[in-house]
Amino acid sequence: MEILGLVCNEMVSSKAICYEDQKTFEMLKTIDEKPISMQIFGSEPESMGKAAVVVSKLCDILDINMGCPAPKVVKNGDGSKLLTDLDLARAVIREVVKNSSKPVTLKIRKGWSNENIVHKEISKIAEEEGVKAIIVHGRTRQEFYSRTS
Ligand SMILES: Cc1cc2nc3c(=O)[nH]c(=O)nc-3n(C[C@H](O)[C@H](O)[C@H](O)COP(=O)(O)O)c2cc1C
Repeated sequence: MEILGLVCNEMVSSKAICYEDQKTFEMLKTIDEKPISMQIFGSEPESMGKAAVVVSKLCDILDINMGCPAPKVVKNGDGSKLLTDLDLARAVIREVVKNSSKPVTLKIRKGWSNENIVHKEISKIAEEEGVKAIIVHGRTRQEFYSRTS
């Protein structure tokens, strides 16, 4: 028997959770491994707070995605784009922590670009807002998944 330390799901959209999108709920409900960390993304503090209420009931750890570089995500201001607006990032974190019934963690990148390295600033904000752990993808958004910078 294999014992897993922690299972993580693929990020789900906070807006999709708010719209009660059934496909999104299926993504969350098909996982029955424990302990499980579920990840949400979004840049509207209100929808992130609402999603936190719902998703935190289904998991052991609630993770916020501020690392995704995908164009379709960042064009809405979500994922790694939040690293360019730390006040908004703080507001998002605050709503999630306030509304989650489980410990909240945060996934970040180093920053948006080499001209915008903010991992220390965002980590300080996260700590102040009650985030329990930070997961750092040690690239900028500009670097996507490249092996060299
Ligand atoms: C196809 C794909 C999907 C990913 N989905 C997620 C995700 O939903 N949430 C997340 O935090 N990271 C996601 N990642 C990022 C990885 O978790 C990881 O941070 C990244 O690949 C860096 O690891 P590496 O240096 O080993 O490549 C994804 C990466 C890839 C390539």
